[in-house]
Amino acid sequence: MTSTTLTAPAVALGTWAWGDSGEAGDGHFGSQLTAAGRREIVAKAQSYGFTLWDTAAVYGMGRAETVLGQALNGHARGGYQLSTKFTPQIAGDGDDPVADMLQRSLVRMGTDQVDLYWIHNPADVARWTPLLVPLLRSGRIKHVGVSNHNLAEITLADRILGDAGFRVEAVQNHYSLLYRGSERAGIIDHCRQHDVRFFSYMVLEQGALTGRYGPAHPLPAGSSRAAAYNGILPQLQALTDRMRAVGEDRGASAAEVATAWAIAKGTTPIIGVTKPEHIDGLTRALDIELADDEIAELEALADAADVDTRGSWEQDI
Ligand SMILES: NC(=O)c1ccc[n+]([C@@H]2O[C@H](COP(=O)([O-])OP(=O)(O)OC[C@H]3O[C@@H](n4cnc5c(N)ncnc54)[C@H](OP(=O)(O)O)[C@@H]3O)[C@@H](O)[C@H]2O)c1
Repeated sequence: MTSTTLTAPAVALGTWAWGDSGEAGDGHFGSQLTAAGRREIVAKAQSYGFTLWDTAAVYGMGRAETVLGQALNGHARGGYQLSTKFTPQIAGDGDDPVADMLQRSLVRMGTDQVDLYWIHNPADVARWTPLLVPLLRSGRIKHVGVSNHNLAEITLADRILGDAGFRVEAVQNHYSLLYRGSERAGIIDHCRQHDVRFFSYMVLEQGALTGRYGPAHPLPAGSSRAAAYNGILPQLQALTDRMRAVGEDRGASAAEVATAWAIAKGTTPIIGVTKPEHIDGLTRALDIELADDEIAELEALADAADVDTRGSWEQDI
């Protein structure tokens, strides 16, 4: 059996943007983080209790894992949790592609075990899930989650692990005001009923729901997120204006309202932090209690925006 139950802070931190090279216009985010900047974010987050770091082998094709390991260097290994992913779409053709990909992640991050290991996308649940069992038994991974899986795939993965005495302890899906497929598909209810932690990613829609970006100030030119979102920013204006107003009453920003919304829905947001001040924002978000009518109003505005922000890697859940 899994030796301990998965525990996690109320908000996890994401590092996809950390995989960008730092060159202007390069990468998915067009992010220009420096090593010193990443270390500052890590030090602040750790001191505030945000100690679960989500990454993946594919973020910058290994770069995000490498720079995360470097930024955490010097912090006690027991003081933080590492969450990374096996991505079937880049699996090798060796005897055990899962163990091979995990091993490369461990080397990049400079550690010998991962606290939370995910199957990133559901390419073939029956093929990949059993390969997690020896990794759990050896202690190289402590807990297992599945990401971007639909309800049937979550249940199948859980049954496969259950046969070996383990379980799916976490689900990680795209979930934001604009993208609530996991709610409609009953996945969030399923997680609540089965004591499975639901981690919501892209709660800020990669910056489009922070209030920082808009038609007059679009996402960084040349980045993939600009291509995905800049065309819909005008449709998001009414929503982000209202989020900003809801935040202003509490001394908080639109991004913090988005984060508070995800927490109010019973999920654990994974926020892609790129600046130390984002950590202050997370502490404010934890203090925001949205009223039911505020949640309903924000969701109605989100629906009225009538946009589809499904990522190219996501199935229609
Ligand atoms: N399993 C999967 O398939 C999957 C897919 C996507 C993401 N994820 C995970 O979820 C994490 C979060 O998603 P994401 O990084 O793609 O997008 P996100 O969290 O929706 O947005 C991140 C962007 O929002 C801005 N931001 C972050 N915190 C802010 C704050 N407090 N105030 C204002 N702006 C803020 C930053 O943009 P600027 O730098 O421009 O300020 C940042 O790049 C990822 O890093 C990754 O770990 C998983």
